[in-house]
This record gives sequence, structure tokens and C-alpha cells, in this order.
Amino acid sequence: MKTATALANTNIAFIKYWGKLQGAANLERNLPAVGSLSMTLDEIGTRTTVAEAERDGLVLNGVALAGEPLAKVSAFVDRVCRLYSVPRRAVHVESHNTVPTAAGLASSASAFAALALATTRAFGIELSPQALSGLARQGSASAARSIFGGFVELAPSRGGEDVLASQLLDEHGWDVRLVVAKTTEAEKEVGSRQGMQHTAETSTYYPAWLASWELDFNTGKAALLARDLDKLGDAMEHSTLAMHATTMVARPPFLYWNGATVACIQAVWQLRRQGVRAYWTADAGPHVKVLCPPPDAPAVEKLLAQVPGVLGTAVHRPGKGAQVL
Ligand code: DP6
Repeated sequence: MKTATALANTNIAFIKYWGKLQGAANLERNLPAVGSLSMTLDEIGTRTTVAEAERDGLVLNGVALAGEPLAKVSAFVDRVCRLYSVPRRAVHVESHNTVPTAAGLASSASAFAALALATTRAFGIELSPQALSGLARQGSASAARSIFGGFVELAPSRGGEDVLASQLLDEHGWDVRLVVAKTTEAEKEVGSRQGMQHTAETSTYYPAWLASWELDFNTGKAALLARDLDKLGDAMEHSTLAMHATTMVARPPFLYWNGATVACIQAVWQLRRQGVRAYWTADAGPHVKVLCPPPDAPAVEKLLAQVPGVLGTAVHRPGKGAQVL
């Protein structure tokens, strides 16, 4: 066994993945029930090294972790060895995030993308990016998209078939910016996996979500390929609001937003009324991400930085796919 290091950037979904194919066998394979579209970001992700060890271990940002995070990593390594028929060896996994872990900046996406690439290489397995995305998906479905750079689609699994991500445009294919407004340092209370499952099981709007995602997906994909920011932005805001609406009417209900999230949304809408082409989205956390043309990014960032409760801002370009270092 070799020591292998991989770097994967995070991605932000324009059209949201929210919900899995139900049933124990499907849930075990982590098959998304809806399609999603995303942009991989530059400069924000996870670097992971996998090396042989006496027993499985996980160190994240310099802190040794046991319990559930380690169990997830061990289960993922078990899966890789089972799928590719290689003898299971114990591994030491060392990861560094440049994303606030579990705070809604999609750290599981970059984490499982980097882990899939580093683990396969450490065990001497060479996979195509497509096959790697299918593997990463089994760890976390959004991770399938982080294997690729630029703009990426992840198809839904309609009948239990395996699904892989694919690239729609590479990182040079469309020059846009995503301005991130951070609105908390805290870890979220409801993880995306738990949140989407609770929603699928209890939300009265979940059937409406299943009926509406495809129009946003098709509109968003056509807009992305045509590089039509306004059409994409409109579909993105609808997909985002529909996703968050499912949580509000789950039983018991939950909401990923805080006051600053709402204030940022209102500020973006106000900016649009003034003619600026800026569109917001939010994932399973309270941060706000705003898509805009490059010349507008400084004004968008300045505006978001002034919103009470915003702790920091950053501007990201489309970034590269996962790489071995
Ligand atoms: C709201 O990929 O974290 O960010 O497959 O259960 O690991 P699991 O879920 P995860 O969910 C991401 C949800 C989202 C939307 C998205 O990224 O598409």
C-alpha cells in the first residue's frame, strides 16, 4: 500500500440535491432522488492523505477524531476494498479543511471527494473521473460533483441505477463569481443527511419538491450551457426556496437560516431592483452565496459585508476538479 494525498475543492449547488431514493438497499448506496447542478469553487476544499496504519484513525485539522466521523471513514474504506476486491488494510487518514466543517459550506463534498481519490490511489486503484464520482457519491452525494471542476451535473437515480456526476463546462467555460457571506461560526444542528431524510419522511411539502425539482433542473441546465445568468439565477433561487420550504413544514419543523441569512436575501433582492444581476442561494446552513458577473462582485461583497450578522465574506471563481498531489 502507498501513501497518497488528494486535494478536492468544495462545490455549491445551483439546483439542489435534497432527498434520496428510499428503501434500505437504496439508502445504503446513497442514491439521489433528484438531479443537481453545481459550481466547484476555487481555493476552498479538503486535502487528505491516506497511509497504512495499525488501526484506522482520523485526524481532521490537527485533531484526532473517534466516534461517528471515524466510523464513516472506516465504512467508506471498507466499501472501496469490497467494491474493488483489494485486501482491507487499516488506514490513517489525515485531512485539512479550508472550509468551516459542517457549517453549510459543503465540507462533506470536498471531504469525500478527496477521500475517494486518496483512498483508491493508496490501495493502487486507478479510476476514471466518472467512476470516482460514483464512488464519492456513496460517501456523500454532493461529493460526486467535487470530482469535477467548473460546472457539474449529478443525475437522479430514478429506478435504483447507479448515478455518476459529469462536467457541463470546465472552470474556464464561464467566468462568474460566487460571493460567500458567512453568518455563523457554529456547527449546524441538523446535518444535511439527517435533514433531508427527516424532510422526506415528514414534510407535507416533500411531494411538491419531488414534483418541482425537474423544471428548475432543466431550466438551470439549459441556462448554464447558454451562460444565461438571469435564467440560471431565477431557477437557482426557486430551487433553493423550494428546498428550504420543505424543512419549514417538516414535523418537527426546522430552519437552516438565521436573521443574517434573511437580511442578506433581502439585500440581494434590493440590489437586483437596482439593476445588479446578483442571485442568492443557501445550503444546509445559514450562509448565503451570491452568483454574479465578475465586475459586480466587489459591490456585492461590499453590500453583504455591511449586513448585520455577516461575519466575513469571500469571492470565489470556478475551481478545478479533484487532483492527486
Ligand atoms: C443542501 O451531499 O451532504 O448541500 O449525500 O447525505 O452526504 P449526503 O448529503 P450531502 O447533501 C447536500 C445537500 C445540499 C444541496 C446540494 O449540495 O446539492
